[in-house]
Amino acid sequence: MKIAILGAAGRMGNMLCKLADKSETLELVAKCDVTEDYAKTWPAGTEAVIDFTFHAAVPANITKAAEEGVAYVLGTTGLTQEEQAAVDAAAKKVPVVQSSNYSLGVNLLLDLVRRAAATLDEEYDIEVVEMHHRMKKDAPSGTAIMLAKAAAEGREVDLDDVAIYGREGIVGERPSGEIAIHALRGGSVVGDHTVMFAGDVERVEITHKAQSREAFAAGALRAAEWTAGKAPGLYSMRDVLGFAD
Ligand SMILES: NC(=O)c1ccc[n+]([C@@H]2O[C@H](COP(=O)([O-])OP(=O)(O)OC[C@H]3O[C@@H](n4cnc5c(N)ncnc54)[C@H](O)[C@@H]3O)[C@@H](O)[C@H]2O)c1
Repeated sequence: MKIAILGAAGRMGNMLCKLADKSETLELVAKCDVTEDYAKTWPAGTEAVIDFTFHAAVPANITKAAEEGVAYVLGTTGLTQEEQAAVDAAAKKVPVVQSSNYSLGVNLLLDLVRRAAATLDEEYDIEVVEMHHRMKKDAPSGTAIMLAKAAAEGREVDLDDVAIYGREGIVGERPSGEIAIHALRGGSVVGDHTVMFAGDVERVEITHKAQSREAFAAGALRAAEWTAGKAPGLYSMRDVLGFAD
C-alpha cells in the first residue's frame, strides 16, 4: 500500500517514517511537511495519508484527500468543532480512522475504565490526570478526554454535564458524580495517563505510560493498512483492533 506521512519532520512523523521505511507491506511515497526539504503534498496514486500535524492544518488536507478518494488516518489532536466538521464531511467520501491515541494499551484501557466506572458507583470520585512533554501544544490531551468519555459512558452520563478541567480558588466541596481532568506538562514525557476512582475506604488507579512514540506510530501504520477496501466512514482505533462493540 502506498502511503504518505504528513508532519514527517515532527516528533511523531519521524517515528512513523522510521517504521514505514522498515515495513514490507507499506511503501512510503511522500514525507510531507511545511518545513524545508520535505514534500508539500502527496503524489497521485497515494492510497492512504497519515496525519500527525497541527489541528489547523487538518481541514485542508483531509478535504483534498476526500476529493481524491484517498483514505485518511488522523492522529492530530486538539481539533475545534469546525475542524472536526471537516473530518466528518470527509468520512462520508473515504474511510477515515481518527483516534487521539493509536497505542494498543490505551485502547485496552478505554474498556477497563468503562467497566470500572460502571462497577464503582458515585461514591468513588473520578479524576483523570495526564502528563506530557513540555512541547505539547494542546491541553488536556485528546487521550485524557477519550478516557473521561469512557468513564462517563460507564456511568451512563454525558461528559459535558459532569466534566471540570482543573481547579483553582475556593471551589468548595467536590460534588459527587463530577469527572475532573488535569494536565501536567514537563520534560520529555511521551504520555502518561491515570484514571483514579477515589472512594472513602479504597482507591483504584488505572495507569498507562507510553515509553516510546513507537506505540502510537505502529498503531497508526496498522490503521492505514486496515483502510484498504473499507467503505467510507469514520472509524476508531477500536474498530481497527476489533475491540468495537
Ligand atoms: N493520536 C495519537 O496516538 C497521537 C500520539 C502522539 C501525538 N499525537 C498528536 O499528533 C500531533 C503531532 O504531534 P508531534 O508531537 O509529532 O508534533 P510536532 O510539533 O513535533 O510535529 C508536527 C509537525 O507537523 C508539521 N506541520 C504543521 N502543519 C503542517 C501542514 N499543514 N502540512 C504538513 N505538515 C505540517 C510541523 O512542521 C511539524 O513538523 C499533535 O496534535 C499531537 O497531539 C497524537
